Amino acid sequence: MWSNAKDRALRDRAAQVIPGGMYGHQSTVLMPEGFPQFFTRSDGTRITDADGNTYIDFMCAYGPNLLGYQHPRVMAAIERQQALSDTSTGPSPLIVDLAEALVGMISHADWAMFCKNGSDATTMALMTARAYRGKRKVLVATGAYHGSLPWSTPRPGGVVAEDRAHLIYYTYNDPQALADAVKQAGDDLAGIFATPFRHDTFHDQTLPDAEYARAARRLADEHDALLVVDDVRAGFRMSRDCSWETIGVRPDLSAWGKVLGNGQPISALLGNDRAREAAANIFVTGSYWFSAVPMAAALETLRIVRETDYLEHMQIIGELFRSALTGQATGYGFTLRHTGPETLPMVLFEEDPDFRLGYAFCAAAMKRGVYLSPYHNMFINAAMTEADIAETLEATGAAFEEIKQNRDTLQPSQVLMALMEA
Ligand SMILES: Cc1ncc(COP(=O)(O)O)c(C=O)c1O
Repeated sequence: MWSNAKDRALRDRAAQVIPGGMYGHQSTVLMPEGFPQFFTRSDGTRITDADGNTYIDFMCAYGPNLLGYQHPRVMAAIERQQALSDTSTGPSPLIVDLAEALVGMISHADWAMFCKNGSDATTMALMTARAYRGKRKVLVATGAYHGSLPWSTPRPGGVVAEDRAHLIYYTYNDPQALADAVKQAGDDLAGIFATPFRHDTFHDQTLPDAEYARAARRLADEHDALLVVDDVRAGFRMSRDCSWETIGVRPDLSAWGKVLGNGQPISALLGNDRAREAAANIFVTGSYWFSAVPMAAALETLRIVRETDYLEHMQIIGELFRSALTGQATGYGFTLRHTGPETLPMVLFEEDPDFRLGYAFCAAAMKRGVYLSPYHNMFINAAMTEADIAETLEATGAAFEEIKQNRDTLQPSQVLMALMEA
């Protein structure tokens, strides 16, 4: 029988010693009771919470779980390297192997630099774009998430206008909006940022029009600025190359994180020769950026990405999840909007402006052993099987039935509404 007594006790303790009880996207504000917050195990496709409940996990740690938690080949690489050295006075030779591996795989890349989080990589992209010609203005799509540093964090707390003084916002997928933003930058355009597709929290996902992507490339070239693709979220879930290779547009810089080490802390900025000197001129570092264990994990992850059909398998599983869930919803009288690439599903209910259906549905699935998100895109991983999807559908069928019965009494989350408006 599902219970959350330990999770609740941990939340109470956390509220005493962690500001707000939790921070960032793990915040209890967006994860009300019924959504466990604390986990003790992760293995393959499953996570186990502090109360001992196990879930098929469609969040994949918000992306890093690409191949399955505790993937045996990656774990073996980690153990081998741990026995030798991890954080040391200098990097291990693995840093060169890893840079070579990425340059060999990612078409636009002639070099690589490594860091820890996606925010490090996107910030290095911003600095490199500015160092390139000493220009200041950077174009970012409205609502796009590029990390949690003062220039990019989505919430206003602790941020001053000067932190974003040289950012210009444009509408994703709109070549005219992009051209207008470029015009506004005048002769001070340093770079244009784009995510591989529009994957803003709370919203339907939108794939990029090739025309928009080509316009971004052309405008960057015309103004001697750098084009940046932020592949931190979508990396290796759309392509074994930079995600915009799928539409034939090659950036100067790409930011990577999450999947690189299948859960080990490592991220990267990749760039072409045009951007090499600028990248060499920025001073960036961190005490743990050169640790060897995550690099060993990344090398093995990249080998699996190159050598196996992990991507095609995830696409089949993602498509199965999409079509089966959508069909199941119809049977219970609900219409779902299931948008974006099949490997990064975003599932929203039609006619659910305050997310009351979505939250109640996910909470009901949770109690039956399936971890879904009501407001954020989810992630397929390569360890998922048709049997996992069949088990998922048993839980979601019962969840649809439950919310159908309770439909008239469901309540919106006031906190969520306030956050969406903020
Ligand atoms: C597109 C994108 N860029 C950057 C980031 C920031 O990555 P991190 O949380 O590892 O700093 C994220 C994280 O979700 C992301 O989705």
